[in-house]
Amino acid sequence: MKLSHVFLSLLLTSGLNLAYATTLAATNTAAPQATAADYKPVQGQAGKDVIWIPTPEGLIDKMLSTAKVSSQDKVFDLGAGDGIIAITAARKYGAQSVGIEFNPDMAQFARRKVAEAGVADKVKIITGDIFQEDFSSATVVTLYLMPQLNLKLRPILLKMKPGTRVVSHAFNMGDWEPDERIADQHARAYFWVVPAQIEGAWVVSGLDGGPMRLNLSQSYQQIGGTLSRGGQSFALLGARLSGDELKFQFVTPDKKVNTFSGRWDGQRLTGTVDSDYRQTLVEITRP
Ligand SMILES: C[S@@+](CC[C@H](N)C(=O)[O-])C[C@H]1O[C@@H](n2cnc3c(N)ncnc32)[C@H](O)[C@@H]1O
Repeated sequence: MKLSHVFLSLLLTSGLNLAYATTLAATNTAAPQATAADYKPVQGQAGKDVIWIPTPEGLIDKMLSTAKVSSQDKVFDLGAGDGIIAITAARKYGAQSVGIEFNPDMAQFARRKVAEAGVADKVKIITGDIFQEDFSSATVVTLYLMPQLNLKLRPILLKMKPGTRVVSHAFNMGDWEPDERIADQHARAYFWVVPAQIEGAWVVSGLDGGPMRLNLSQSYQQIGGTLSRGGQSFALLGARLSGDELKFQFVTPDKKVNTFSGRWDGQRLTGTVDSDYRQTLVEITRP
C-alpha cells in the first residue's frame, strides 16, 4: 500500500475527526505557496474538507469501467485534485467531464494537466466548493473524500436523476449498500446506481381479472411489497430496482410465475408481465 493511502487510512481508523485530520495534514506537510506555473501539489496537503491524495490509475480504470462510462456521459469528480479522474474519463472513455476543486492553485494545476493531456475540449475544472456547486447534470459522480462527507452528500445524490451512477474510492455511504464493490490491489471502491423513489401505494392496470393494488416498501434500491386483489395477496419475489428499472415476480394461485419488468418515467411505471410465454402490457399508476 502506498504511504499516502496508509496515512489516510490511519487518520480514519484511528477515529480522528475531520477537523483534526485536516489540521494534522496541514501541519505535517509544507503547504505550497505559489500560484504560478511552477506550483506543485504535495500528497497529503490540506484541502478545505479533506486532504489531497490522488486515486491510483488502476483503480480509476476499474471505477470508470464499472460505471460503464462512455462518450454519452458527463462525469463530475467532486474534489478533483490534479484532475486525474476527470482527465481519464475524457481521454480513455470519451466522456465530457467536470472536476470541482476548492483550492484555486490545485484547480489551476489540474487545468494545466488537462491541457497537457490534450482534452481541454472535454474537461472543465471548476474552482469551487462541492457543497455549493451544482452537479445535477452529471450522469456519473466520482468521489474520494471521507465517510462523513459522503454521508453529507448522500441526500443530494439520492435526489439526482434515477440511473445516475456514483463511484466512491475507499469510502461507503453508510446504510446505502453498494450495488458493486471494486478492488484493485489494496485499493477499494464502491458503486451505486441512484434508485427511483417508488415507495407507497400503486394500482396495476392491464392484467386479466382487473386492476390490482401494489404496495411497495423501499430502502434505497431494496424493494419489497405485495400485490393484492379481492382479499388475495401475493408477495413480490426477487424485486430489484436499478435506477428507474424495476423487476419482480409473483406467483398466482394457479402456481404460475409472473415476471414484471418495467421502467419508471417520473410519474408511472410501464412494462410487461410475462407468464407462460404470454406477455401482457401493464401500467402502474398512483391511486
Ligand atoms: C482525496 S483528494 C481526491 C482527488 C481526486 N478526486 C482523486 O481521486 O484523485 C480530495 C480533493 O478534494 C479537495 N477538496 C476538499 N474539500 C473540498 C470541497 N469542499 N470542495 C471542493 N474540493 C474539495 C481537496 O483539495 C483535494 O484535492
